[in-house]
Amino acid sequence: MNILGISAGFHDAAATVISSRGDIVFAGHAERYSKKKNDADINLGLIWDACDQNLAVDHVAYYETPWKKQLRQWYSGQGIEWNKLTTKQILKQQLKGFFPTASHSCHSHHLSHAAGGFQTSPYDRATVVVIDAIGEWDTITIWGAEYDRQGRARYQRLWGQQYPHSLGLFYSAITQRVGLHPLDEEYITMGMSAYGSDHYNRVMESVLIRDPYEIEFGQNLHTGVTDDFMGGLSNEDIAASAQRLLERLIGNVMRRARDFKWSTNLVYQGGVALNCLANRRLGNYFENIWIMPCPGDAGSSLGAAAFAYGKRLHWHNAYLGYNIPGAYPVDRIVCGLLDTGIVGVANGRAEFGPRALGNRSLLADPRGAKIKDQVNAIKRRQKFRPFAPVILEEHVGEYFAMPRGWSDSRYMQTVSLCKNPDLFPAIVHVDQTSRVQTVPKDGSGIRQLLEAWHAQTGCPMLLNTSLNIRGEPMVNDRSDADRFEMLYGVTVYS
Ligand SMILES: [Fe+2]
Repeated sequence: MNILGISAGFHDAAATVISSRGDIVFAGHAERYSKKKNDADINLGLIWDACDQNLAVDHVAYYETPWKKQLRQWYSGQGIEWNKLTTKQILKQQLKGFFPTASHSCHSHHLSHAAGGFQTSPYDRATVVVIDAIGEWDTITIWGAEYDRQGRARYQRLWGQQYPHSLGLFYSAITQRVGLHPLDEEYITMGMSAYGSDHYNRVMESVLIRDPYEIEFGQNLHTGVTDDFMGGLSNEDIAASAQRLLERLIGNVMRRARDFKWSTNLVYQGGVALNCLANRRLGNYFENIWIMPCPGDAGSSLGAAAFAYGKRLHWHNAYLGYNIPGAYPVDRIVCGLLDTGIVGVANGRAEFGPRALGNRSLLADPRGAKIKDQVNAIKRRQKFRPFAPVILEEHVGEYFAMPRGWSDSRYMQTVSLCKNPDLFPAIVHVDQTSRVQTVPKDGSGIRQLLEAWHAQTGCPMLLNTSLNIRGEPMVNDRSDADRFEMLYGVTVYS
């Protein structure tokens, strides 16, 4: 049975196709086709690509349970959308006549997160922790996951917390308080936190939190905090204190999860799992860590399909989206880098998830003091934000001190301390950390490029940032890359 997984209707809609043999045939984001950042709706281009493998879709799996979500929205004063009470109603609107004979199912929001993580992980048994903003009612869940003798994934719910007590809503409220866009720019709040003092995290806790161990808030943060919340503090101090508080509360959840003694393997999912600064502490609680490269709601298109499939999936890498065919242009990129210092690449299958991992990337020589300003002139983002390095995995220990529990970081999911920050100022944050991507010997295009760059220069690392026009989603196809070239005067190789 070939299964199409859909997540849509809130933010960052996505589609995934899983074949009857457990292969992930496609996984991609609606925004890359509509060019609307965080597009909540499925579109024709996405579905067309998702099913462009001559696969008949037998079943459509939806990432949450509509009537439960409507009930929660009614409870929180958002009203009920009567035309979205059932999966069939939603899929009818979203898919507009595609797959009329396919059966359909809906799955719990947090179980979709859990399945997307566990069934792509290398583990036979794992403790699964899901932390997000809000789905139906659950906001934090802990699961014991394993495969039975027939290889079917089994999930036992060990603990949960529900709306309005939500770590994701807390961080989004802080994001709004410091002048950024909630549900979009939480990663900038995280970057800003390095510039402030986290000294006020205990005060913040006493104002907001009723029980830090049960993760109970004293107020509903769904609509944010007041404009004068922690008045008198700078935005940087608020961000730093909130980040520290978030990390302590995540620590409480992880300690609880560990104490169930289900497994020393952690699978971590939900939008909060994108907080790579907090993730550096996960090794304090678990021996092994797996975070799927798209752990937020978009990843639950894969999660819903995985749950419906029911067994382990064949996971290889995050290159699962639209394909720009052709061999990875290694020699031309190396020449371009030696010539101008900055090049774009749009080749192969687009990354599933928010990070550019080498197939839709803007790449630069990370050495020297000037490169950060040069890349920033193109990206035009806040000057305080550093760029990320991508490095041959076997060399990571020479340049970075990886945190406990993280021997690699293939999807940029943790930060590590840079050992030579003065040599690489463009890829090091003010707190001396870098959000490193390590590349194993997997034969990928970015691996071949790093090997050639290393042979040519002795440097095993490049600066890597997403290839996107300001305000737009990542480049998807060659015409997007052409527009990027025209606007910024940077060659994009395919
Ligand atoms: Fe979620």
